[in-house]
Order: sequence, then C-alpha cells, then structure tokens
Amino acid sequence: DDTKAGVKGLVDSGITEVPQIFILPPKNRAEKCETHFVFPVIDLEGINEDPIKHKEIVDKVRDASEKWGFFQVVNHGIPISVLDKTLQGTREFFEQDTEVKKQYYTRDTRKKVIYTSNLDLYKPSVPAASWRDTIFCFVAPNPPSPQEFPTPCGEVLMDYSKDVMKLGFSLLELLSEGLGLNRSYLKDYMDCFHLGCSCNYYPPCPQPELTMGIIQHTDIGFVTVLVQDDIGGLQVLHQNQWVDVPPTPASLVVNIGDFLQLLSNDKYVSVEHRAISNKVGSRMSVACFFGESPWQSSKLYGPITELLSEDNPPKYRSTTVKDHTSYLYNRGLDGTSALSPYK
Ligand code: SIN
Ligand code: FE2
Repeated sequence: DDTKAGVKGLVDSGITEVPQIFILPPKNRAEKCETHFVFPVIDLEGINEDPIKHKEIVDKVRDASEKWGFFQVVNHGIPISVLDKTLQGTREFFEQDTEVKKQYYTRDTRKKVIYTSNLDLYKPSVPAASWRDTIFCFVAPNPPSPQEFPTPCGEVLMDYSKDVMKLGFSLLELLSEGLGLNRSYLKDYMDCFHLGCSCNYYPPCPQPELTMGIIQHTDIGFVTVLVQDDIGGLQVLHQNQWVDVPPTPASLVVNIGDFLQLLSNDKYVSVEHRAISNKVGSRMSVACFFGESPWQSSKLYGPITELLSEDNPPKYRSTTVKDHTSYLYNRGLDGTSALSPYK
C-alpha cells in the first residue's frame, strides 16, 4: 500500500533522507556540468502562410532533429491558457488524497489509465527507483470513458490532446519534408496511430544529487511533445554533455523517438535525456507520445526505402512496435540505447 502513496507519499511523511532503493550508482548521477551549448528554439509563426517561412522552418526542424534530436517550439498555436490548465489539472490529480489516487493504481500496462510510481522497479537492470510519480493515459484514438478517468485530470488532458494532436501532425509533416518526402509521408506510414500521455509529478527531494526524477533514456515512439512547468530539470545529452532544456514560458519541447531514428536510417536521432531532482519544489511535466499502438500494430518497420541508396544502405533490420515495446518493458530503463538490438 505504501507504493500506492507514491514518492509524494514518502515526501509527505517527512523523510529527510533518500531511501536506499532510490540511490543511483555514482555513474548514473547528475554531476554539475558547465556547457556553452544553447538549446535550439524554433518559432513556428507563419508556418502555413508564407512558403519561404515554411521552408526556413523545415530546415531548422531538420537541422535540430539531426544534431540534437530535440528542440523547443514557440508560437505553436496552443494557447498558454490550455498549457497552464493541463499542468494544473494533472497536478491536482497527484495532490489528492492517496485513497482517491489508489483507485487508479495499476501495474497492468494494457490499462488505459495507469497511476503508478516506478513501473520498472523490479527489473534487474534498472539501477534505482525514480523520484517521480506518474499517471499515464492513452488518449487517442480510443480515449478512456469519463468513469475511467480521474477529474479534473481527464478533462484537461482530453482538451489538451485535441490541440497537441494538431501540433503533432504538423510536426510529422515538417519532419517528412525534412527527409525530402512528401508532407503526409510519416502520418500515412503509421499503421494504427496512437497517442499516450505521461503526466509526471516530481516531488521535491531532500538529497537531489543521489537520485533522479527519471534516469537517462530515449523515447520509443515517433515524436514526443512535452509541456513542463517553470521549475526545470530536463536535460539532454548533446556531444557528450548534459544540456539544460530551459523551462521557457509557453514553449513546448519536441523530441525524436527510436522509431523515427530507425525509419530515417539515423538521419534523425533519438537522444538520451533525463530529469534531475531538485530541493525547491514539486515539478510537473506532461509528455505526449506520438506513435503506434504497441498492442495493435504488427506492421514491420525498417528504414524508409525512398531514403536508401548505395551510399546509404539500411542500418537496421525491421521490427514491430509490439516487439520493441515488449523488449523495453522487459528490460526496463537501464541507461543504454534501445536501438542496438536492431543494428
Ligand atoms: C521523460 O523524459 O520521461 C520526462 C522528462 C521531463 O519530465 O522533463
Ligand atoms: Fe523521455
């Protein structure tokens, strides 16, 4: 029952030291690092009005997806009021009584609404538990019923998902064009499109240097769009240095997932990232994963034929999203690349 109170439950009980299961081996901890890199920001203003602007944006998206696998977007069309409501509504879920949250607690990854803390804790390769609680929801194409969904979290997520889906599909268009393919290529390529949202609550931590909100990992799908509050903590590995993703107001963070790296034959990169813990206050982020349904799609994905040539032979064998997802669920987040089995 303790697990159902989450990491927040531990913090609320007044602990002053991080319990052993959360303590990372030194090699996985976040050492302080200075970097001169500036995280890429792309302004989407005027994207569909001016063809010259559009081309400039495609170039910036391509460049960031090749070099960083990550970028931030501003003027993305989602009102700041929607972003604030999403963060606030999902935060309220975690701030409720454990008795209420408990109803949504499950370790069954096929459920549509999954409140949990450390789903992969018992996997042998996972170095330590994460300092965060999560409610994961599959919101499209078959959203949970209002009965399955906690309020107000469910309503705000359904509202947000409409906007974020529009943005996600425009990003897939830009990413298709960036590969020299027609605009709808990546969208049409997907077999059973699926949108999952992970709402992450990172409680303040008494010894943030010993643990992590989430250890380094890559995202498995096609593209992730993330909204975060003003606390910060997301870091991206760039040229072997950890770079902070600044919590710029009204911006969204976009990153390439494993499947897009595989499809693009390594032109776009799925880059390792992590969320560090802090002492100052609870942090909220909502990550929306655009990809295939892991349980429905049996389509084989490999590098896109149109991109291959004698000089660019396929670097991966094909796999299904189902196989890749089961492989990852069984392995857990162990801090290593998820694509190596297909190389
Ligand atoms: C994640 O990558 O799982 C979440 C990152 C964040 O909360 O910023
Ligand atoms: Fe992630």
